[in-house]
This record gives sequence, structure tokens and C-alpha cells, in this order.
Amino acid sequence: MDLQLRGKSILVTGGSRGIGRATVERLCAEGARVATCARGQETLDEVVAGLRAGGADVIGNVVDVTDGDALESWIESTASNWGGIDGFVSNVSARVYRTDLERWQENFEIDLFQHIRAIEAVLPHLRSSQGSIVIVSSIAAMMSQLPDLDRAYGPMKAALASYGSQLAQIEGANGVRVNSVSPGPVHVDGGFWDEVGQQQPKLYALAERLSVMGRLGRPEEIAAAIAFLTSPLSSYTTAANLHIDGGTVKSVRY
Ligand SMILES: NC(=O)c1ccc[n+]([C@@H]2O[C@H](COP(=O)([O-])OP(=O)(O)OC[C@H]3O[C@@H](n4cnc5c(N)ncnc54)[C@H](OP(=O)(O)O)[C@@H]3O)[C@@H](O)[C@H]2O)c1
Repeated sequence: MDLQLRGKSILVTGGSRGIGRATVERLCAEGARVATCARGQETLDEVVAGLRAGGADVIGNVVDVTDGDALESWIESTASNWGGIDGFVSNVSARVYRTDLERWQENFEIDLFQHIRAIEAVLPHLRSSQGSIVIVSSIAAMMSQLPDLDRAYGPMKAALASYGSQLAQIEGANGVRVNSVSPGPVHVDGGFWDEVGQQQPKLYALAERLSVMGRLGRPEEIAAAIAFLTSPLSSYTTAANLHIDGGTVKSVRY
């Protein structure tokens, strides 16, 4: 299936590892022009160099998304260099390990507010191009039986999905589609669930059992859905929240 992404200009935050990286790789493979950002220069440079060696049109910039000015300036300068933006994938998250009150502020900044700041900055460009936004949420937004590592993460992801849904209603009239994807546990080498597997094998095994596939997700399985939602092939899909969790959440999804 041709996603018709060839020549489309798409920004992805947090593209040096995990789901963000798999998304950058997938979009490049589809022929899109991709810009991504992360804090760590070395990994970012490696990813970009590898993709360019394969012929991809991709750039990577060191940007910390919690620095609002830097985030907005990255979006503006990329739009100006490219002459427009067709898609935006808001992917970066704060991960979870602590439950103290300061952590709520950190989750608010990274799991909610920076997404909103970035989306507000990118919207004028997407109105011009009739573009698409994909927000990376999580099934943690709708689960109340999470391990006690996670108290602020799920509520912020829930707020993020709600924001995306409302924004889709408002921006539809301007020709901008807004969708979310909500992954279940995804095994990223060196990532959260990799660490859980080493430090809390029973919790990892529970996550495997909860999926009807008997395993965790893979980054590329989430990236494929993100690529579809950024693409013109999903032209009638907006305000969706696509759960990609291998059947982990046991509720009827009407
Ligand atoms: N993995 C899962 O099980 C899972 C499940 C459900 C939902 N999700 C969601 O999927 C998304 C990606 O998760 P992931 O597991 O793939 O993450 P990850 O492996 O931890 O990768 C995160 C990426 O974001 C970058 N990043 C982190 N903080 C940043 C910051 N402040 N500014 C700029 N870049 C930053 C990282 O690079 P640097 O560290 O170099 O900055 C890296 O490229 C998140 O929204 C997460 O909530 C993941």
C-alpha cells in the first residue's frame, strides 16, 4: 500500500530511540522528508547518518522539548527552511519511576504541556498544508491497575488524549486532522520495559500475559499506525484514538 507520503514534510519529536525512531525510519522509508529532535546529540547523529546513508531526506536537531523557546524555534526554522510542514508527530514522554509530588510537575511539563506548546506552534503551518497531527498517548490513560510507578503518567496521557480529541473537533473546519495512538507496553532495547524485564521479571511476564499475543509490542508496530495516520490515506480519520496494545485492555471499544 502506497501511503502517498513521498515528498511530505513531517516533524517527529524524540526520534533517536524507540517508537519515535521507528516512526522516523518508517516515514523515511515511505519517501517523506523528516525532521526530528532529541536531547542527546550522539545517538541522534548516528540515527540520522544511518538513514542518510540509505538515501533518506532527514535532519536531526538537539532540542529539549521542555525548553519552550527552543521547541518553537525548531518548528519555525524547519517550516521556514522547508517552505511548510505537512505532518507533526508529538512523541516525547517523561518516563516513570518516581511517585513524589515534584514528579507530577515533570510529567505535566513533558507529558502534557510541551505537546500543547508544540502543537499550537505547528498548527498555522498545518492549516496551510491541510496537514495532520498524531499524538502519542498510552493505554495508561485508561488503566487504573498500573504498577505504583506511574501515578502522574496516566493522568497526563488521559489529558493529552482529551486535548487531541477536542482539537480535532475544532481544527476539522480548518482542514487539520488530529489523531492519537495509545500503545500498550512496547519493548524498546534500553527502554522502560527492557529495564522492567531485568529488574522486575514478574511484572514483565504479566505485561506479556495481558496481551492476547503473549508478548509486548514492537516500536515498528506503533510506527506503522502513526505513518498511516499522518498520511493522506487516512483522509477521513480524525478524532480517533487508536489503541495498539495487542488486546491488553479488556474492554469493549465502541
Ligand atoms: N514504550 C512503551 O512501552 C510505551 C507504551 C505506551 C506509550 N508509549 C509512549 O510512546 C512514546 C515514545 O516512548 P518510547 O518508549 O519509545 O520512548 P524512549 O525509548 O524513551 O525514547 C524517547 C525519545 O524521546 C527523546 N526525548 C526524551 N526526552 C526528551 C526531551 N525532553 N526533549 C527532546 N527529546 C526527548 C529521547 O532522546 P533523548 O533522551 O536523547 O532526549 C528519545 O529519542 C511516549 O510518548 C510514550 O509515553 C510508550
